[in-house]
Amino acid sequence: MSETVFTYAAPALKFGRGAADEVGHDLLGYGARRVLLVTDPGVAATGHPARIAEQATARGLQVTTYDRVHVEPTDASMADAIAFARDAGPFDAILAVGGGSAIDTAKAVNLLTTNPGELMDYINAPVGKALAPSQPLLPLVAVPTTTGTGSESTTICVLDVLSLKVKTGISHVALRPRLAVVDPSLTASQPAMVTAASGMDILCHALESYTARWYADFDAKQPEQRVPYCGANPIADMWSEKALSLLAGAFRAAVRDGDDTLSREQMALAATFAGLGFGNAGVHIPHANAYPIAGRVRSYRPEGYPADEPIVPHGMAVSLTAPEAFRFTFDADPGRHLRAARLLEPDADLGEGADVLPGVLTRLMRDIGIPNGLAEVGYGEADVEPLVDGALKQQRLLATAPRAVAGEDLAAVFRGSMEHW
Ligand SMILES: NC(=O)c1ccc[n+]([C@@H]2O[C@H](COP(=O)([O-])OP(=O)(O)OC[C@H]3O[C@@H](n4cnc5c(N)ncnc54)[C@H](O)[C@@H]3O)[C@@H](O)[C@H]2O)c1
Repeated sequence: MSETVFTYAAPALKFGRGAADEVGHDLLGYGARRVLLVTDPGVAATGHPARIAEQATARGLQVTTYDRVHVEPTDASMADAIAFARDAGPFDAILAVGGGSAIDTAKAVNLLTTNPGELMDYINAPVGKALAPSQPLLPLVAVPTTTGTGSESTTICVLDVLSLKVKTGISHVALRPRLAVVDPSLTASQPAMVTAASGMDILCHALESYTARWYADFDAKQPEQRVPYCGANPIADMWSEKALSLLAGAFRAAVRDGDDTLSREQMALAATFAGLGFGNAGVHIPHANAYPIAGRVRSYRPEGYPADEPIVPHGMAVSLTAPEAFRFTFDADPGRHLRAARLLEPDADLGEGADVLPGVLTRLMRDIGIPNGLAEVGYGEADVEPLVDGALKQQRLLATAPRAVAGEDLAAVFRGSMEHW
């Protein structure tokens, strides 16, 4: 029998310039007295976390700061944060200030300071045991400083398991922040490449959830089988379409001029909207491919990111195979692919066919300084097989693709993504 039900969930949201100044008030409303603030060194250097902590302290809260979050967290970096929190606690609320790296680390800290066991107990199967939390988590207030991941709205926490060389995650509704505080003024200090890469994450969230397998095309589930990602649906569509229109107006301008406040605000709205969409519908091939692209990096070091180790940042990793992935999925629903392309380039005469959306994407990627394909970040033909193996492990995501995806399909997508222009 086919599915007849879709679901939608979201945290409370406070949006707008100055919203972060009210976090102390919001935390008091959750009954908090002792708060753990979680951030990374780059964000700490902007002064935003210290200012937010000061304002919370002025309202009588006791704030302890952990500022060693690893950019693109690992099991080891999360274990460090958890050990710090277990040692310095107990706390009665958690405050994340940063991009997806800080927010995801805060989610893991929240889980493992309130529940027994270790990370591996909760990491998605087959890598981990995929246990559900047995105890309630603390209120988590998430304050994003990038315009990208949507992690402030989602149930997901992403990490690299270093010993297994695999990027995976924990996904459970209990991880969703209680409150998302999106203050665009915090995002102005993002380096241009962070704006570009995290913005491609927004774009792919919107495009992948918009083109995901329709919720009613899945088999019917029992209530206990429902997962946060239920496939494309009318509510997620609304968020995705609006996010695409905002990106059309603001993305190039925000990368070109970080001080353009209107573009920054629209990017923050786009990230929020796309997060609310994909956090319920799901993502598919570009995100599945991003895991091995990020996980197998050898020497690539983009500007604007910590230079101490090689990194293909998440949003960049997602975008590199997106044009080819959408060429592959086009036949599943040409109308949606073309509509998305027209939302992104509303004034152009784009024509018809499978090349339209890939063309829109590659023009944008070139304009905002995203590398010209997998070759530029260090991959070649010899990497195709391990990249395919890595992507095939992300069955949770591939199941949301609008058509069945075999290893040979992924191989063609990776090969076609070596160079885009
Ligand atoms: N949980 C989810 O739903 C979800 C979704 C997508 C991605 N992710 C994860 O999020 C991570 C990526 O997060 P991201 O793209 O937000 O970037 P990030 O948190 O990794 O930060 C990227 C860099 O930008 C710096 N930075 C962030 N905000 C800044 C600011 N306002 N001013 C100056 N510098 C700033 C950071 O210090 C860091 O060096 C990845 O680990 C990815 O897997 C999670």
